Amino acid sequence: MTNDPIVLLFVAIHIIAAGFWLSQFVAVIALERFAALVKGKPAEVAIKMAEGNVESLLGTAGGIGILISGLVLTFQFRYGILGIGGVNTPMWLVIMQVIFIIAMAMVGALVTRPARPIMEMLGKALANGEPAPAEATSGLNRIQLMSRIVNVLVLVNIFVGLFGVNGVMH
Ligand code: HEM
Repeated sequence: MTNDPIVLLFVAIHIIAAGFWLSQFVAVIALERFAALVKGKPAEVAIKMAEGNVESLLGTAGGIGILISGLVLTFQFRYGILGIGGVNTPMWLVIMQVIFIIAMAMVGALVTRPARPIMEMLGKALANGEPAPAEATSGLNRIQLMSRIVNVLVLVNIFVGLFGVNGVMH
């Protein structure tokens, strides 16, 4: 526990950023409901593209917010990165940092990269008023699954942080 206002500010940013990331769960459920209403129709393409954009925005804001606030907190507490440097870095923090790196690597390799050509395909379909090509739909489903796995990792990290800070984990 601390009463340092700077630390508390960055803890707040850290948690708000995690909330941004996790709100993808809710945004996707809402947009998927609309997409289901117009399945196979050109309107579905616009909704799927909006879904991709919303997820990308929330993921980017959340990821960057967590990283910057996490680094500030790490240095404020004089902890290390992945156990390197710092003083008395707790094991839960190393776990939190490793899970974050795995999550970001998954986003880069399994979400952002494959999404690029699919968004291009969808953009063309949208401009021509056509339904989504089958290839784009199956690719999108795979990307969505990866994105949900990343969300679960973020959720796990929230518990790692809460348990760690409150002494349940060391
Ligand atoms: C998905 C990624 C992450 C999530 C969801 C997350 C979440 C959390 C949560 C819930 C806490 C507990 C806050 C409290 O109760 O005071 C916490 C603490 C902390 N996190 Fe993270 N974190 C993530 C990634 C990171 C990264 C990448 C770093 C460092 C580079 C980091 C550094 C810290 C530090 C130093 C604390 C301790 C703050 C304190 O002692 O009050 N976190 N994190």
